Amino acid sequence: MCFLFIISAFLVFFCENCETADFSFAACSCAQCSLELLEDNCTEIIGHIIISLESQMPPYEMIEYKLENMQKLTGCLTIANSGFTNLSFLQNLEIVEYSEIGVAASCRTYANTITIAKNALLRDVSALKNLKILNSGENTEYGLYLVDNPSLCLEEEELEAFLRFDKFYAPHFRICHENLLNKTYCRLDSLSFFNHSNLPENCQVLTDSIVINGSITFDLEDSLNSTDFLDFFFFSNATFQERLNSIQEIFGNIVVMNSDLEKLDFPNLRRIYNFQLLRAPPK
Ligand SMILES: *[C@@H]1O[C@H](CO)[C@@H](O)[C@H](O)[C@H]1NC(C)=O
Ligand SMILES: *[C@@H]1O[C@H](CO)[C@@H](O)[C@H](O)[C@H]1NC(C)=O
Ligand SMILES: *[C@@H]1O[C@H](CO)[C@@H](O)[C@H](O)[C@H]1NC(C)=O
Ligand SMILES: *[C@@H]1O[C@H](CO)[C@@H](O)[C@H](O)[C@H]1NC(C)=O
Ligand SMILES: *[C@@H]1O[C@H](CO)[C@@H](O)[C@H](O)[C@H]1NC(C)=O
Ligand SMILES: *[C@@H]1O[C@H](CO)[C@@H](O)[C@H](O)[C@H]1NC(C)=O
Ligand SMILES: *[C@@H]1O[C@H](CO)[C@@H](O)[C@H](O)[C@H]1NC(C)=O
Repeated sequence: MCFLFIISAFLVFFCENCETADFSFAACSCAQCSLELLEDNCTEIIGHIIISLESQMPPYEMIEYKLENMQKLTGCLTIANSGFTNLSFLQNLEIVEYSEIGVAASCRTYANTITIAKNALLRDVSALKNLKILNSGENTEYGLYLVDNPSLCLEEEELEAFLRFDKFYAPHFRICHENLLNKTYCRLDSLSFFNHSNLPENCQVLTDSIVINGSITFDLEDSLNSTDFLDFFFFSNATFQERLNSIQEIFGNIVVMNSDLEKLDFPNLRRIYNFQLLRAPPK
């Protein structure tokens, strides 16, 4: 797979500190040469920045040196399959405006404004703390797409900031310092759904959806796993209801179908954020 970092003569006009204003860039389809060709100290970049497999990338220092002054990106950003632990090279990024015209044409194929996916070692995205404006427009599927970064956790404040962006997508996210927080976040081991048999006790926040499909049957195994001794004998919809009572927030949705439930209460639910597919992906 060839890495693409698209740069053109366009860039010159948006690179504020460029010494040679008439320097003209060639469109380049190779990371090593294109990032190195990127003028130093650019504060604005137009194009599709793709950062992927380390073996196809210039050294981290080079990426950081070339991108750390970037305050505005017009186009999109894709960080996938990288070996990065953090995104410190984005620490000055304040504005990202989605575009798929000209040098940013390839953004159309990714459909997200910022994609951060499948980065096995990525631990924190705190470098995005200065990102204030994320304009995704109508054509994008997602604004900030954070998926399948198994080492990543989000601070609560980061989560709140990201939730303010249009089309934020991070199902099954993990929250940082869980045991220091005032509320209990419940998350499944893999991307799946909570239901009556796997919903733990005393969850205040669920980071996966609840899906009940079919009639609810309680089996002995569910009861055995309960920490409440009485549940061993009386595990029932009442117990399930008790578990629903503690829920205050759900990052996902509630689906109840084909069920014979007469009643299902969420007495303390105050926020539900549905990571919904907003637009059919481009063909
Ligand atoms: C980039 O910034 C550094 C330090 O601010 C400066 O020394 C260097 O000349 C600049 N490079 C360009 C191409 O403007
Ligand atoms: C960020 O990642 C780079 C490259 O992996 C590393 O050199 C640097 O120490 C990291 N910074 C922090 C604060 O973890
Ligand atoms: C922590 O939780 C308790 C009990 O739910 C609540 O009274 C208190 O205000 C919370 N503290 C913070 C800092 O949210
Ligand atoms: C509950 O969800 C788990 C995993 O999400 C699934 O394996 C299990 O079959 C579900 N149970 C029922 C009764 O739907
Ligand atoms: C609901 O359960 C039925 C029967 O087990 C199954 O065929 C169907 O695919 C399920 N639907 C969803 C949305 O899980
Ligand atoms: C009950 O606990 C056992 C052992 O911890 C686990 O393997 C099993 O999946 C649990 N069952 C349910 C329904 O949660
Ligand atoms: C409890 O669950 C059973 C099915 O297991 C259902 O028939 C009954 O209506 C439920 N009761 C309530 C109050 O939802």
